[in-house]
Amino acid sequence: MKIVMLGAPGAGKGTQAKKIADRYQLPHISTGDIFRTNIKNGTELGMKAKTYMDKGNLVPDSLTLELVVDRLNQTDCKNGYVFDGFPRTIPQAEALTGALEAKGEKVDFAIDIEVPDEEIVKRMSGRRACLKCGATYHILFNAPKENDICDRCGNELSMREDDRPSTVLNRLSIYHKQTQPLIDYYQGMGCLVQFDGTKDVEEVFNDILEVLGE
Ligand code: AP5
Repeated sequence: MKIVMLGAPGAGKGTQAKKIADRYQLPHISTGDIFRTNIKNGTELGMKAKTYMDKGNLVPDSLTLELVVDRLNQTDCKNGYVFDGFPRTIPQAEALTGALEAKGEKVDFAIDIEVPDEEIVKRMSGRRACLKCGATYHILFNAPKENDICDRCGNELSMREDDRPSTVLNRLSIYHKQTQPLIDYYQGMGCLVQFDGTKDVEEVFNDILEVLGE
């Protein structure tokens, strides 16, 4: 099963992508997490990506596509994957379609999670992330069992650099200009499924499972 997650920053793509990946034993591939790990490890890719990410801008397609193509060729992707945060531009989507077509494959589901902008801004200020394993929490809606400690790996949680309100507004504006057109792109390909992301985490997940065939 090949899934791409669509939706504004903070819509809940990462939260749902991890649950889908756990449920179906698929790799969860978050380009944002890959960039953040590279930043933490001080790699050349990380240093380049950081200059864009800190301002809330997109990392150029050339850098992003290189890492995605490399990731797609790893053996754990043989039976499918859940892409989270990729594709994010029409050229990225076209490159993915092209890479899959070359293998006689296609995206099965483009899952779009819809949340209004006002709700997004509120959500981001309460998000806490684990920089070690990538788990994401919310201090009110999806709290860890122990304050500021990751349930999965016990690491200390922190706020993401790009969750400051002014950066969030820039990320939303870029989303509307560059990423929202992907909704029409995947609708045209016949694999778009849309969900109300204002429901609580488990309700959204159950709605998704119904469409995935459970
Ligand atoms: P990335 O890491 O992909 O961030 P994003 O798309 O902006 O998405 P977020 O991770 O902020 O939000 P999300 O939708 O996953 O929501 P979450 O589940 O965490 O990208 C970061 C940056 O990297 C980009 O700005 C760009 O610079 C660069 N980048 C990455 N990929 C790129 C690409 N392909 N091309 C170019 N550049 C790229 O949820 C948010 C909060 O809400 C959490 O606190 C969560 O607990 C809570 N929450 C989740 N669901 C619910 C719910 N139903 N009700 C209440 N609260 C909820």
